[in-house]
Amino acid sequence: MNGNELLVLAQEAMMKAYAPYSGVFVGAALLTAGGKVYTGCNVENASYSPTNCAERTAFFKAVSEGERAFTAIAIVGGKGGKIRDFFPPCGVCRQVMLEFCKEDFKIFLTDGKEVRELSLRELTPCGFTPDKL
Ligand code: THU
Repeated sequence: MNGNELLVLAQEAMMKAYAPYSGVFVGAALLTAGGKVYTGCNVENASYSPTNCAERTAFFKAVSEGERAFTAIAIVGGKGGKIRDFFPPCGVCRQVMLEFCKEDFKIFLTDGKEVRELSLRELTPCGFTPDKL
């Protein structure tokens, strides 16, 4: 499973977003070390703060199925499900990545034209990691 294939799965997941308040559709496809993919979309709420991002939906689905090792995630998003720009993960989702992923974990993004590949190290330098506890 390469970055482009993961991005296609993220786009499919994006179409399942529940985003009646922001209108921003987000999809993620998370690759485990064993080669399995878990997808996720954002799930909003009328009370706003319970909203779950697409990335965390994918992580929590996977972790709740017993997965603990991950190698890459693809993320896409845009207003009305239209991809116009790169959609990097929010700080809370980066923190979840730091909990389960090593520094070489890959993040694939696309603006619909180009694909960008970042490592978790590049995306979140000087992060708060579990070894600090
Ligand atoms: N969102 C995500 O799904 N992932 C992110 O990393 C950033 C934001 C969602 C949350 C909300 O439903 C919408 O995008 C607008 O913030």
